[in-house]
Amino acid sequence: MKSKTTLFALLAGLFLLAAFTLPEINSSVPEEGEFEIPENINAIFEKSCFGCHNSESDYQKAKDKMMIDKLGDLKKSKLVAKLNKIGKEVSEGEMPPEKFVAKYPDRVPTDAERQALVDWAKNAIKTLTKK
Ligand code: HEC
Repeated sequence: MKSKTTLFALLAGLFLLAAFTLPEINSSVPEEGEFEIPENINAIFEKSCFGCHNSESDYQKAKDKMMIDKLGDLKKSKLVAKLNKIGKEVSEGEMPPEKFVAKYPDRVPTDAERQALVDWAKNAIKTLTKK
């Protein structure tokens, strides 16, 4: 039956993909030029996120979750997961947190800046996962 063959081929393909791609993604950090934070994106992080998510921050809870200036030291699988979370938290308006927004209204990213962060995270994931 044709559909069975197709299904089998699909499963075999997925298995191969998992077998060959995942270990590589999991076990290595990004190579030179594979992950970069451009100047304009870094400026948004600096304005809206570094107060908490930077290696020099005093906010341990936020640092434990993520240090944006150390993202490039993460293994690729972890990095991709963090980039996914950045996209999610920023587009859903969960980050920066409410209290920060209330206290520092001028440090809240604009809609355009949020969009720029989300687009950047998406593209960075694409670059990291293409083989
Ligand atoms: C006022 C401090 C503060 C600021 C500013 C802030 N965050 Fe956070 N962020 C936190 C804390 C605290 C957590 C952990 C929340 C928790 O676990 O409940 C967190 C969690 C996150 C997470 C989830 C990480 C994970 O692995 O679960 C992401 C992604 C994130 N922040 C991104 C951002 C981005 C992007 C910005 C800037 C646009 C930002 N944050 C600004 C304090 C901050």
